[in-house]
Amino acid sequence: MSELTPQTDRAQWKSRFGFILAAAGSAVGLGNIWKFPYITGQNGGGLFVLIYLACIVLIGLPIMMAEIMIGRAGQRQPVGAFESIHGRKTAWSGIGWMGVVAGFIILSFYIVVAGWSMDYTLKSIVNFTKPIESKAATEAEVYIATTSISDMKLFLVNKETDRQLHPRKTLLESRLTKSQKENYERFRTAIEKAEDQDQARLRLLKDEELKSSVEAVEKVEQQVAKARLEIAGSVQTKINSLSATDLLAQVKLSKRRDLVFEKMTGTFVNLLTNGWHSLMWAALFMMVAIGVVAGGVAAGIERACRFLMPTLIALIGMMVLYGAFQPGFGAAVSFVFSPDPSRLKASGVLEALGHAFFTLSLGMGAMMTYGSYQSSKTGLLQESVMITLLDTAIALLACLMIFPITFSYGQEPTAGPGLVFMSMPLAFAEIGRTGMLLSMAFFGLLFFAALTSAISLLEVVASYLIDQKNWSRAKAAVTTGLLTLVVAVPTAFSSDSTSVLSNWEGDYGLNFFDTMDHLASNWMLPLGGLFIAIYAGWVMPRRLQEAEVEDMPAWIFQVWLVLVRVVAPALVIIVLMQKVGIFDI
Ligand code: PFF
Ligand code: NA
Repeated sequence: MSELTPQTDRAQWKSRFGFILAAAGSAVGLGNIWKFPYITGQNGGGLFVLIYLACIVLIGLPIMMAEIMIGRAGQRQPVGAFESIHGRKTAWSGIGWMGVVAGFIILSFYIVVAGWSMDYTLKSIVNFTKPIESKAATEAEVYIATTSISDMKLFLVNKETDRQLHPRKTLLESRLTKSQKENYERFRTAIEKAEDQDQARLRLLKDEELKSSVEAVEKVEQQVAKARLEIAGSVQTKINSLSATDLLAQVKLSKRRDLVFEKMTGTFVNLLTNGWHSLMWAALFMMVAIGVVAGGVAAGIERACRFLMPTLIALIGMMVLYGAFQPGFGAAVSFVFSPDPSRLKASGVLEALGHAFFTLSLGMGAMMTYGSYQSSKTGLLQESVMITLLDTAIALLACLMIFPITFSYGQEPTAGPGLVFMSMPLAFAEIGRTGMLLSMAFFGLLFFAALTSAISLLEVVASYLIDQKNWSRAKAAVTTGLLTLVVAVPTAFSSDSTSVLSNWEGDYGLNFFDTMDHLASNWMLPLGGLFIAIYAGWVMPRRLQEAEVEDMPAWIFQVWLVLVRVVAPALVIIVLMQKVGIFDI
């Protein structure tokens, strides 16, 4: 539907629906399915999700409207839009420049993760043709042949108890802070070294901070032990009542699970630590994205979106349903939705704010650029609400899909960037051969969602060269794409232990990959969004602003004005300043 080809009269979306589809395509991406669940896991769930939702409503939605408004009024990409509105160069174009830089940085790690989703799509196909079945069967047979019935029962009781305990244990342990755990570790090592352990314990516990950490950890340990006892009792009864055939079937299943777990987690680690492999996929992904932006095949993409977006939602819905029948579902739901202040990390607020911008493609002019291809002066509110709702719904559903699996299959919510790549395959493998088809569909759709977001990122940079420098679309797309690929090299190698970059993490606490993400998402996007809000609320000519909101109820316009003038800027400033350490709250 989009005709993003250079022409004297600028390209336009053919319909409002076309615009919404493209904008939703930009918003819905790796941010929803890969990033949101893993940062939710790292930041303790519940309260983090609540803060994120508040950021979406109070900051994201109003700035979404502001960006589309400016893009429509300026009919240019972010560098040119302000110039075209004011008829001369102004400092506001700086927003556009920062957007171009942020776009480069985001794209450079985005394509690496998108490449992983391509790799996983291929792996699903391979696993479909070569299932893990035979290897698991052999291992189980060997085990069965060499083990007595009573040992097998013992083995199963332990395995099944661990499996059922894991969700509760993980949830309980997620309340402990990193420093509490570290303090406790130090305490344990000190005691183990001491000659008189009781004495050492008493002496060490004189330290108040250490004492409170030790108490917290020991309390959790007791709760876990109690839960284990409860579970073990009922598991034991169940296992003892199994017939011989059922027992063997259970042993086989359990052996298979172990094998799958080992294989799937190993698979991701291999990918992560093999820079060349990651880079190759990133390059392939970039080629596809360049092709779409250069060739103006965006029309095809949009037609595909019409079909793929509902398919993605249906597939996620199906996996949520699957998760609802897994032992970790309750723990997962309570992790994601029950706000527990003790689980929120201090850096969580900035992370939630940054992610609100990232997930809605805000703060760097992507929505402005897409808005600039729209000539309509109506429907600003409906469009923005629709895009935001869709994006938020998919992010929350993704959590409801992933965490039951994480909790049920022995994984930790704090797994980090590998979360979706390690959790989902466990469930797909459990489902068996059909699961491999689901896996293909899932990672294929993830690839596609990433593609529609990546082209919007590329579009921000490319449209600058097209609009302002009169480059041809093809030249602009190829140049920006290849440049991004260069920036992506260190990202792809950031976890490769053979690369020079492996020292970066030690010096800095975050690896290169995370550094790029933090820099762009948590700092550049909120800053960009801050200026966009201020511009739309205070600076933009009233006449142009009012033209965009004519069909909006007056009170909604007033609410928007307050949000964009005061609330959103104030919140962004408070969070950023608190993080810089200017003041404490
Ligand atoms: N919103 C995209 C996602 O959630 O995956 C990422 C993104 C796209 C960020 C475009 C910024 C952007 F301009
Ligand atoms: Na998103």
